[in-house]
Amino acid sequence: PAVTFVLASGAIQEVPLTEGSSLMEIAKMHAVPGIDGDCGGCCACGTCHVIVDEAWRNRLPPITSAEAQMLAIHAGADPGSRLACQIPATAALDGLRVRVPDHQF
Ligand code: FES
Repeated sequence: PAVTFVLASGAIQEVPLTEGSSLMEIAKMHAVPGIDGDCGGCCACGTCHVIVDEAWRNRLPPITSAEAQMLAIHAGADPGSRLACQIPATAALDGLRVRVPDHQF
């Protein structure tokens, strides 16, 4: 299983899914450019922002109020915006496609 990151440059980076990690952690493990994860995954920095492909938006775990608050304080959030640290990397995400914004919040 793997997920695809569409980088700000337009390049595509496919990363294997490691169950038990978050989407932010697997991005960091594979040095996906543009995913910073400054707070280490505790939903406090917003630097793991990704924009989820429309087809996948309803297939992810719902946004918690903490995640919604963090997204809301950042201007420019997109309807597909999520924090990658709040998305557990499970096999169900095989084929997920997300875009990395050209800058983090
Ligand atoms: Fe900080 Fe996701 S890593 S909010």
